[in-house]
Amino acid sequence: MKGLTLRTVRPGDLKEVYKIERLSFRQPFPPSYLETLAYLSPETFIVASIDEHIVGYSASVLKGLEGHILSIAVHPEYRGLGIGEKVLRENIRRLKELGARKVVLEVRVSNTAAIQLYRKVGFEISCLLKNYYWDGEDAYEMVLTIGG
Ligand SMILES: CC(C)(COP(=O)(O)OP(=O)(O)OC[C@H]1O[C@@H](n2cnc3c(N)ncnc32)[C@H](O)[C@@H]1OP(=O)(O)O)[C@@H](O)C(=O)NCCC(=O)NCCS
Repeated sequence: MKGLTLRTVRPGDLKEVYKIERLSFRQPFPPSYLETLAYLSPETFIVASIDEHIVGYSASVLKGLEGHILSIAVHPEYRGLGIGEKVLRENIRRLKELGARKVVLEVRVSNTAAIQLYRKVGFEISCLLKNYYWDGEDAYEMVLTIGG
């Protein structure tokens, strides 16, 4: 996509990241959580920007050999343009570069768009997590094996 840049997060991005988080989730992470992630693991927190404006992000942590995607979202006006896939693939590439052998995430069972995206990049459902979310909805845990 023209003008799209993928890079690691900077402190100045967090206001726009949080705006997208709020537009994307009924129970968004608090700003302090995203700030902490950006402070502790900036190298595994990828943002997508167009003309210096953040349009999407993928935030993760690496623990040992396992990466964990904690939040990924694209601004509603920019969805369906390939940005989610690009930012996720870049996050996975970074995690792999830093030593991850697998990447794990949780997703609402009703979130067809996200599940399709994860399947497309190679994730598989590993188990069902009953009552995982605050409103009682179940989650799928999905895993991508990237060792080799
Ligand atoms: C999930 C999300 C990040 C996808 O981002 P996006 O930029 O719109 O997705 P892309 O355009 O990169 O699409 C990549 C693939 O994802 C899947 N996908 C994306 N939107 C879809 C939709 N509405 N329905 C079905 N599949 C969809 C498709 O497989 C697509 O590949 P294709 O274009 O070859 O069919 C975005 O919908 C979003 O921000 N949702 C709200 C936040 C959220 O639910 N995050 C995930 C929490 S676990």
